[in-house]
Amino acid sequence: MDIYVDSANLEEIKQAKELGLADGVTTNPTLIAKENKSFTDILHAICKEISGPVHAEPLSLEYDAILKESRELSKIAPNIVIKIPMFKEGLKAVRALKEEGIPTNVTLIFSPSQAILAAKAGADFVCPFLGRLDDYSHDGLALLEAIRTIYNNNPDLETQIIAASIRTPNHVVELSAMGIDILTIPSKVIGMMEKHPLTDAGVQQFLKDAENFK
Ligand code: G3P
Repeated sequence: MDIYVDSANLEEIKQAKELGLADGVTTNPTLIAKENKSFTDILHAICKEISGPVHAEPLSLEYDAILKESRELSKIAPNIVIKIPMFKEGLKAVRALKEEGIPTNVTLIFSPSQAILAAKAGADFVCPFLGRLDDYSHDGLALLEAIRTIYNNNPDLETQIIAASIRTPNHVVELSAMGIDILTIPSKVIGMMEKHPLTDAGVQQFLKDAENFK
């Protein structure tokens, strides 16, 4: 299982790397906008830091324009993966980029049928967003489980699943148990995973008891 950093913030990415949690990075326009720097400068800096896949999203919504923008983005570094939202023009672009040897990720996946279309278009990765489904009282984990089953039962579909929109440590545990290929985790959730009040209490107790060393 690979863990990616779901961030465009270089400091967060470096901190995750120190913990062995930066097998790759996913960005999106919302994450890039938070950084207040140029899109390409951010991607150059991340690709200098991270040798694994760095996912970057073109903004165009029309086939020719998506291809043009994707080719430009992929020139930034050999580890750039082009992340394209789930829609018909995007799927056509995924297919064309595959023929050019440019790796792709179909993002904003909210149903198993979308994951089938993305795989058949030749996407190397799909990003189902589980937290955003939970927000609407749907079962985000059930979506991930359904896609896992479909891909397992059809080995000709070679697309890897990146679970995105992860909000809680329990999401991470359940997704790991399911055998999801890649989890992209925001740094806030990494911080939550590390914490347990019994660990803190145990450390304090050890320090207190150590005062009685002879
Ligand atoms: O990778 C997708 C992620 O950034 C979206 O997360 O919490 O905004 O649904 P969220």
